[in-house]
Amino acid sequence: MADKSKRPADMLDGAPTTVEEPGRPPTSFLEVRDLRIHFPTDDGLVKSVDGLSFKLERGRTLGIVGESGSGKSVTSLGVLGLHNRRNAKVSGEIWLDGNELVGASPDQVRRMRGRNMAMIFQDPLSAMHPFYTVGAQIVEAYRIHNDVSKKVARKHAVDMLGRVGIPKPDRRVDDYPHQFSGGMRQRAMIAMALSCDPELLIADEPTTALDVTVQAQILDLIRDLQREFNSAIIMITHDLGVVAELSDDILVMYGGRNIEYGSVDDVFHRPEHPYTWGLLGSMPRLDRERSERLLPIKGTPPSLINLPQGCAFNPRCAYSELTDGKSTVERPELRETAPGHTVACHMAVERRRRIWADEIAPKL
Ligand SMILES: Nc1ncnc2c1ncn2[C@@H]1O[C@H](COP(=O)(O)OP(=O)(O)OP(=O)(O)O)[C@@H](O)[C@H]1O
Ligand code: SF4
Ligand SMILES: [Mg+2]
Repeated sequence: MADKSKRPADMLDGAPTTVEEPGRPPTSFLEVRDLRIHFPTDDGLVKSVDGLSFKLERGRTLGIVGESGSGKSVTSLGVLGLHNRRNAKVSGEIWLDGNELVGASPDQVRRMRGRNMAMIFQDPLSAMHPFYTVGAQIVEAYRIHNDVSKKVARKHAVDMLGRVGIPKPDRRVDDYPHQFSGGMRQRAMIAMALSCDPELLIADEPTTALDVTVQAQILDLIRDLQREFNSAIIMITHDLGVVAELSDDILVMYGGRNIEYGSVDDVFHRPEHPYTWGLLGSMPRLDRERSERLLPIKGTPPSLINLPQGCAFNPRCAYSELTDGKSTVERPELRETAPGHTVACHMAVERRRRIWADEIAPKL
C-alpha cells in the first residue's frame, strides 16, 4: 500500500470531487461515471444505484462494502450489462477498455462481456446448469471466444480445475455440479469465470458460504490468478477481513451512493464517515471472533424509493446535530479530505477526525 503524504485538510475539503465530463475519453481501464440504475415498480421508482462514480486499473482490486440492499449487486450486474433494459432504467457511463457500455447495443455488450469480463456469483448453483457436467460448462464458456476443438477445450477445462485445487481434475471434470461439495462448486465457478482470462473479474460475496479454511484458499487463488492475468477485480463482500486482505481501494455504499472512498489504509485507519465507523464496528472480520463484533448500526437501511432528505444517513447518525442543520436539508457531496480519500459528510473535517480518534477508534 502506498504511503500517501497528507496535505492539510483545509486545502482539500473545499471543493466537491468532480464527475468526469460526460463523453470524455476515459483514462482508466474501467471508469464508471454517474451511474444510475432505477427500477420502476408499483410502489414507486426504486433508485438502487443513484449517481455512482469510480475508476479501476488492471491489476488492482476495488472492494465495495455496504449493508444489505445498498446497491452492491445491482452495481455489479450493471457493469456487466446484465440488467434487463425493459425493467431497469440505466444511465451514466461505463467505460471498459475504451468502450462505453451503457449506450452500446446488447450485442456489443455481450461481446465485451465474454471477451473482457467474468463474474463470480454468490451462489454457484445459480451460475451453473444442473444438467451439464462441470467440464462441459467450462468447455462451452471457453469455446465461445476461443476457436479450438472440443478436445483442446476439454484439456483446458481439466487444467483450470486443477489450478483451482480440484483433486483428480481429469476425473472430476465429468461430474455434475451437485456431485461437488460447496467449496468445490465455488472453485469450479471460479475456474469457469477465469477460463477466458478475464481482464475484469467481479466477485460478489465469493466466499460467504464457505468455511474459513476454504475461504482463505479461495482468496489466495483469486490473488494468484490476478497476478497471472493482471485482472482488475471488484470484490463485493460483507466481510471487512476479506476486503482488507484483497483490496487496494474501498468504496463504501449507502442508499445506492458512494459515501466514502479511499485506500484500504484510509478506510480502516482514518475513516471519516459516521456510517463507515458503524460498518467497522458491526461487520465480521477474519481476524476476530464473530461474537466480538456485535455493535450493530442502529436503525434500518433507507427506503430506496424515498431516501431521507439531506444526508440519507441522517436518521441513523449520532452526529447529525453537529452540522448546523445541514444534515437534514442538504445532500453532502463527496469531497476530497486527503489525496485519494473522499467523504460525503457535512461535519467539519477536524471534528470528524477528533471523534474518530477520541471516541470511535478506542472502542474497535
Ligand atoms: N429488479 C428489481 N426491481 C426492483 N428493485 C430491485 C431490483 N433488483 C434490486 N432491487 C432493489 O435494489 C436494492 C439494492 O439491491 P442489491 O441486490 O444491489 O443489494 P446488495 O447491496 O447487493 O445487498 P446484499 O448485501 O444483501 O447482497 C434492494 O433494495 C433491492 O430490493
Ligand atoms: S452529513 Fe450529517 S447525518 Fe450525514 S453522516 Fe455526516 S453528520 Fe451524519
Ligand atoms: Mg448483493
